[in-house]
Amino acid sequence: MWLTRAFSLSVICLNGGIWTGEACECPTGFTGDRCQHVVNVCLNGGFWDGLKCQCTSLYYGPQCETVVESIEIEPPPQTVTAQMEMTVTVTNEEYSDNLQNRSSEEFKRFNDTFTKQMQIIYYGIPEYDGVNITGLRRGSVVVEHEVILKAKYTPEYKEVFQKATEDVKEKIYNATKVQISNDNNCTTLLCFNSTATSVQNVTVTQYNPEEECREKAGEEFAAYFTVEYKDQKPYCITPCMPGFNVSLDCHYGKCQLQRSGPQCYCLITDTHWYSGETCEWGIQKSLVYGLVGAGAAVVLVVVVVLLVFTLRSRREYRVSQLYQWHQEDDGGSVPGTFRNIGFDVSEGIGTLHSTQNVQSVGTHRGTGGNTGA
Ligand SMILES: *[C@@H]1O[C@H](CO)[C@@H](O)[C@H](O)[C@H]1NC(C)=O
Ligand SMILES: *[C@@H]1O[C@H](CO)[C@@H](O)[C@H](O)[C@H]1NC(C)=O
Ligand SMILES: *[C@@H]1O[C@H](CO)[C@@H](O)[C@H](O)[C@H]1NC(C)=O
Ligand SMILES: *[C@@H]1O[C@H](CO)[C@@H](O)[C@H](O)[C@H]1NC(C)=O
Ligand SMILES: *[C@@H]1O[C@H](CO)[C@@H](O)[C@H](O)[C@H]1NC(C)=O
Ligand SMILES: *[C@@H]1O[C@H](CO)[C@@H](O)[C@H](O)[C@H]1NC(C)=O
Ligand SMILES: *[C@@H]1O[C@H](CO)[C@@H](O)[C@H](O)[C@H]1NC(C)=O
Ligand SMILES: *[C@@H]1O[C@H](CO)[C@@H](O)[C@H](O)[C@H]1NC(C)=O
Repeated sequence: MWLTRAFSLSVICLNGGIWTGEACECPTGFTGDRCQHVVNVCLNGGFWDGLKCQCTSLYYGPQCETVVESIEIEPPPQTVTAQMEMTVTVTNEEYSDNLQNRSSEEFKRFNDTFTKQMQIIYYGIPEYDGVNITGLRRGSVVVEHEVILKAKYTPEYKEVFQKATEDVKEKIYNATKVQISNDNNCTTLLCFNSTATSVQNVTVTQYNPEEECREKAGEEFAAYFTVEYKDQKPYCITPCMPGFNVSLDCHYGKCQLQRSGPQCYCLITDTHWYSGETCEWGIQKSLVYGLVGAGAAVVLVVVVVLLVFTLRSRREYRVSQLYQWHQEDDGGSVPGTFRNIGFDVSEGIGTLHSTQNVQSVGTHRGTGGNTGA
């Protein structure tokens, strides 16, 4: 015992701890017999880096206590494309093995003719951006190719391509149908076998901000994050983000996203109390004090009158009963079931105090009542 004590005299307290002669007295944020352990004050998966909390991407604040109002998502691409895999059969050209050689004169000539013909067929489709021959086969010439569609990005680009691909299909089926009828004396650049035309597959640029937003918000908050477009740009936001259609207006308060959804935390200033689901109504403290004072005066008068009355009628009246009645009235007068948590402006928004100063609407009245009584 004595030995341990002697030994412990040499203990050096770390991190600004002070040796009291018995143990290290650690400053806030540190613990352990030599104050060597850092207390993790950071919430929601954040960690203390020695100076401040490093929060995960979904939280911010001194203790990582607040859920972010918006999440960065990948910006939309400048242009979007669609490829339609299709096959047509050209009937007025002879197949030769040289067509397999993309550097050969035959291929180049065929490619030029085919490209020109397709340009004529798809004339009037603004998204049309050319064809790409992917394979040529015997019979007369079976042309596997892609029709390429291109457009500037807009949030509705998938609908735009939906319509464009419908137009392409209609045009190619129409064109090849007409041209088979003059098979033997083709007057156009190329003539086709109508029954051999087919569209196999359509691939459209994938850009899905809604899905990205949902994924990044995580299971817990996915329901409260939405994608809203502003100037054609998508934003992944919660109702606590101001300036959007979905924004929740917390009038005289601050919006915070909880696991139960977005909520307004109403202000309590030196002069006003604010309350309501979106902190839409405020009441002057002085007015409350005045009313309570007036009420107390009335009560006082009533008490005095009652007292006089009871004394006169020589009946016993216990004043404590009156007080009991008064308190019960206070407790029962909480309007609705909505509970509100206020924070004091003078203490600063986002400080540790913000969640400690818990007051409900009912408590406001109660405090006033007690002051008066
Ligand atoms: C492809 O065509 C070019 C030009 O006619 C020729 O030089 C080349 O040898 C051909 N390649 C093959 C593999 O036939
Ligand atoms: C086919 O012709 C077009 C235009 O004439 C050209 O852009 C394209 O590169 C050619 N394709 C091949 C595979 O040579
Ligand atoms: C055209 O097709 C070739 C072969 O399939 C492919 O390598 C190339 O990327 C395609 N070009 C375009 C612009 O899609
Ligand atoms: C289909 O072909 C007919 C006859 O050539 C033409 O009148 C019609 O406009 C074509 N339709 C489309 C959508 O190109
Ligand atoms: C195509 O053939 C038909 C008969 O089958 C003929 O009447 C017509 O003039 C021909 N057209 C051309 C452009 O040669
Ligand atoms: C058109 O193609 C079909 C098969 O897709 C074939 O049975 C038919 O003989 C072809 N017609 C001509 C005129 O080449
Ligand atoms: C269409 O293309 C996609 C991607 O290239 C592929 O995964 C899919 O199997 C294709 N579908 C058909 C019916 O060819
Ligand atoms: C947001 O509101 C504006 C103006 O009221 C409206 O033009 C726009 O379409 C709305 N946007 C969304 C995504 O609802």
